[in-house]
Amino acid sequence: MKLSSANINVMVKACRKAAKTIIRDFGEIENLQVSLKGPGDFVTASDKKVEKILIDELQKARPNYSILSEEIGKISNDESFTWIIDPIDGTANFLHGIPHFAISIGLEHDGEIICGIIYDPIKDEMFVAEKGNGSYLNNQRIRVSSRSKLKDCIIFTGGPRHRSKDRELSLKDYNNFSSKVLIPIRKLGSASLDMAYVAAGRCDGFWQRNLNYWDIAAGIILVKESGGFVTDFNGEKGYIQNKTILVTNSKINNEMIEILK
Ligand code: 2AM
Ligand code: CA
Repeated sequence: MKLSSANINVMVKACRKAAKTIIRDFGEIENLQVSLKGPGDFVTASDKKVEKILIDELQKARPNYSILSEEIGKISNDESFTWIIDPIDGTANFLHGIPHFAISIGLEHDGEIICGIIYDPIKDEMFVAEKGNGSYLNNQRIRVSSRSKLKDCIIFTGGPRHRSKDRELSLKDYNNFSSKVLIPIRKLGSASLDMAYVAAGRCDGFWQRNLNYWDIAAGIILVKESGGFVTDFNGEKGYIQNKTILVTNSKINNEMIEILK
């Protein structure tokens, strides 16, 4: 089985094309031209190249869709569809030669994410989901894990960035969770892959503060379509606006909310 609607095919094609550039550049990481885009926020020349390939491909196939992308921001157009793009999620890993990062594209329609793709080009793992049609990893259906006690779970988080205003809060969350789980908390450095791993049942729960829409857009539909929950720290829907996201296999949702709120 696989997902093969017209929009999914467009996303897959764009990802495959952009991945060639990512893989090539990853192999020559020391030659990459790195520029500083504000504190703690490194953006590579590669990031910009990859973004351009993705946008060119998506616009060629869907000229009337809007775009929101990490580097260039918003391109408004007349249809109620928007591509939400993170060209390289896990940029710091990429820069340091750590093979754990992804291309992430979500498709929003009337305020809801209806399709998502998260592609890890190094491991050649493609996570794809579509509203009502399930989540897949390389064309195999995926489901969230069934662990129901937080104590036995593997949980992921990310941040805080070095000048984050929420540094103390983030460290407090970390401290609280750390005393509740037997396996130490993981920080793998790519929020989109963290969410994809919850969807695939590799990770049981993930929380993070201050993520942007492009970090999480594709992950939202992947997790929902694999049976997981996506909420804010109170278990409510406002996770995009209030920038606190909790993603779980559904079973440990209440236990995690108790700690976060
Ligand atoms: P990036 O690699 O595209 O910058 C690392 O914890 C993960 O969080 C990455 O997915 C990183 O995305 C993302 N991230 C984005 N903004 C962040 C922020 N303000 N604080 C911490 N992590 C952030
Ligand atoms: Ca990102």
